[in-house]
Amino acid sequence: MAEKHYNSTYLSDTMRLLQGVKTKSYTFFNSVADGGTLVDLGCGTGQDVLNMARTFSGDNLRFIGIDHDANMIAKENGASASDPRIEFLVGDALHIPLADTTVDGIRMERLVQHVVDPKALFTEVYRVMKAGGRVVIVESDWKSIAFYQGDLSVADKLNQYLSAKKVNNGKAAQSLSTYLDQWGFGKVTAEVFPFVLTSYADACTYLWIDKMIEEMVALDRITAAQQQDFVAAQQAADARGFFACSMNIVLVSAVK
Ligand SMILES: C[S@@+](CC[C@H](N)C(=O)[O-])C[C@H]1O[C@@H](n2cnc3c(N)ncnc32)[C@H](O)[C@@H]1O
Repeated sequence: MAEKHYNSTYLSDTMRLLQGVKTKSYTFFNSVADGGTLVDLGCGTGQDVLNMARTFSGDNLRFIGIDHDANMIAKENGASASDPRIEFLVGDALHIPLADTTVDGIRMERLVQHVVDPKALFTEVYRVMKAGGRVVIVESDWKSIAFYQGDLSVADKLNQYLSAKKVNNGKAAQSLSTYLDQWGFGKVTAEVFPFVLTSYADACTYLWIDKMIEEMVALDRITAAQQQDFVAAQQAADARGFFACSMNIVLVSAVK
């Protein structure tokens, strides 16, 4: 996002909400043999690296978390001391600090949406991956946000704003299979998981709906009256127990 709304607290909260799809994403690495290397690219606070290290017991497996934000991974760096198989590196996903064909599996969650040049990213992922290695991607589909109350034309504009303007590569989730196919990966799989929010407060906490609507008014994408009506409709639905909002989470995998 141009202006970053997530922080380590946000990532810990979404960790809990997305646990099902996260756990499923790790299973793609079940067949990685002891001695193999698994990388979580754009690892944020590193929780998925720790979870994978808990999930896979091989003494000689290596788990590497890479993020370009040193502050994000600082918190979990201590864990690498307690489990010698874990390592955190500060690095750019577009210049992965690893040698060619050295990695058995790469996981990327909610990273591709931030990358302006996905071709450079997938070229790097391909470069460091061993033949037969697997890439696993979890992405939020900003284009799929749906509201089940309020003015749908405002909801449509919100989708447009998030997927085409606010998030760098906000349509990435719907292009992942195409990217992987185009950049030489095979055996592509794709699954979709609905992320359902049942209160307006949660929609504001996890999808920043109130802030996004405000930004849209400031940018003349909707009027202040439309904002007021839309928010009032969300709050009324909430108060009467039928608020519903959802966004799809996409889980895609492929093999080099
Ligand atoms: C929404 S967070 C997701 C973090 C983590 N994957 C998770 O699911 O909790 C996106 C992460 O990608 C990192 N990131 C964005 N662009 C990056 C790049 N070019 N290279 C490395 N990390 C990047 C950010 O610093 C941030 O930690």
